[in-house]
Amino acid sequence: MGRVDQKIAIVTGGGNGIGRAIAGRLAAEGAIVTVTDQNPAAGKAVADAVDTIQFLEHDVRIEADWAKVMDNVLQKHGRLDILINNAGILATESSQDVESTSLNQWQAVNAVNSEGVFLGCQHGIEAMKATGGSIVNLSSIAALMATPHLFAYGASKAAVRQLTKTVAVHCGRKGYRIRCNSVHPGVIETSMGDQVMALGGGNVKEKWAARIAAIPLGEAGTVDDVASCVLFLASDEARHVTGAALVVDGGMTIE
Ligand SMILES: NC(=O)c1ccc[n+]([C@@H]2O[C@H](COP(=O)([O-])OP(=O)(O)OC[C@H]3O[C@@H](n4cnc5c(N)ncnc54)[C@H](O)[C@@H]3O)[C@@H](O)[C@H]2O)c1
Repeated sequence: MGRVDQKIAIVTGGGNGIGRAIAGRLAAEGAIVTVTDQNPAAGKAVADAVDTIQFLEHDVRIEADWAKVMDNVLQKHGRLDILINNAGILATESSQDVESTSLNQWQAVNAVNSEGVFLGCQHGIEAMKATGGSIVNLSSIAALMATPHLFAYGASKAAVRQLTKTVAVHCGRKGYRIRCNSVHPGVIETSMGDQVMALGGGNVKEKWAARIAAIPLGEAGTVDDVASCVLFLASDEARHVTGAALVVDGGMTIE
């Protein structure tokens, strides 16, 4: 029996990177997964590869999209057990310090990373409150430290950390049996990782090497390292864990 056998799960932004790995891991452990993404080609490719994954086009910024996704899943399966709020963006402009971040940039990043997770939690709670479940929100180590070159991103991920705690307490006190936790990846080998290294110019390969040298475990994380932690929080193994911040950074933020 899988660790999330027969559980009904949604993974936002599941067409690429960490979300794709999470969707695959949940499906491999027995879950029936809906991958959502604003990129239909990427999302369909994930669903085509695994029988127990379906794809729905979904922009996490749009409330009507959330309603459609929840309706689809509840009509098909009658309940929702796991919601992974994974969709996120780093930036849409190159200037990223506090002085150069435009209001447009602040709003664009927060619309996906912060508002998208807020909407996900609100719709997730509505879908899960009669039956219970687990919400996992993808934050970042950017929520835990200063991010001089990623001003809007760091603030958006700190919002995710904070709202996760509040959702956890709210759901616990209401007796909904919904747990809510955040996961904080560090340096992960993904296209977003490459984007971070490209910030501010310089040699990307050398910047990866310098960043990795600063990680106590001596290597960058993989999408599977993050997916394993998300799987634990999504499963009943974490039945007494709520409001927690699980940091997956090879020790980078310890010192
Ligand atoms: N990669 C890292 O090093 C790293 C580190 C810390 C945190 N994270 C967080 O992990 C999550 C996944 O990151 P990733 O590296 O896999 O990113 P990615 O860019 O590889 O994948 C993100 C996915 O989200 C989708 N997406 C973007 N905006 C969307 C929207 N408005 N609606 C629906 N889907 C949308 C994209 O189409 C893409 O498929 C993000 O929340 C990110 O902030 C990543």
